[in-house]
Amino acid sequence: MSRYVIANWKMYGTLVRNAHLLQGFVGDVPSGIEVGICAPAPYWFQVRQACLGSSVRWGGQDVSEHLEGAYTGEVAVGMLEDFECQYVILGHSERRQYHAESSELVARKLRRVMDSAGTALVPIVCIGESLREREAGQVEAVLSEQLAPVLTVLKAHPHRSVLLAYEPVWAIGTGVVAQPAEVRETHAWIAQYIQLHVGYSLPILYGGSVKADNAGVLIKLPHVDGFLVGGASLKVETFKPLLESCVA
Ligand code: PGA
Repeated sequence: MSRYVIANWKMYGTLVRNAHLLQGFVGDVPSGIEVGICAPAPYWFQVRQACLGSSVRWGGQDVSEHLEGAYTGEVAVGMLEDFECQYVILGHSERRQYHAESSELVARKLRRVMDSAGTALVPIVCIGESLREREAGQVEAVLSEQLAPVLTVLKAHPHRSVLLAYEPVWAIGTGVVAQPAEVRETHAWIAQYIQLHVGYSLPILYGGSVKADNAGVLIKLPHVDGFLVGGASLKVETFKPLLESCVA
């Protein structure tokens, strides 16, 4: 099975910086890794042009729950499709935190992507607990609350590709990476939960301060099928070694 490394550029980038970054690794991705670049919407065209003809895919960081309409600032699933995006991140903790996205809204966005006919768009559904919740022993309660609304959507579309990303909020952008034991335990719990409630398995990515020096250990853990990478995906010097450490 492939290993996924999905870059989440967040709200970073300029035409010039993107061009330099893309030139540095597209065309030089180790085999066995599926790389996706989730870029800000204004740069989809640029990323698409740079990646066409290579193994690297591209995508967005969010989508509207609506098909189209008077929703200023929103991006529709059809717009992602127009740019042949293959990935879209849903329910990232920064969306949940700064835009008050509920788990129900994330499920409606997932349904919107899944209902879109014939699309090759693969949603990446993010879940993860805060430090306070981990310390209070609420990891499983929080993750099941986040997963519960998406179960019905998943069950209705057993043949569609979907990725899950476990991203403990306290590990995102902090330099604090979850310990391998914590990742192993949580990924095993998620895999079991999905199998039990949906009846099939989904690839599970880990996210939160992933870099070349921790990726090699984490990728070997059971139920870790790849990474969602923020900071380390923004520079050739950090992203290329990370890709290499996933196959070392
Ligand atoms: P980070 O971000 O790698 O900078 O911690 C990960 C993410 O938010 O997806």
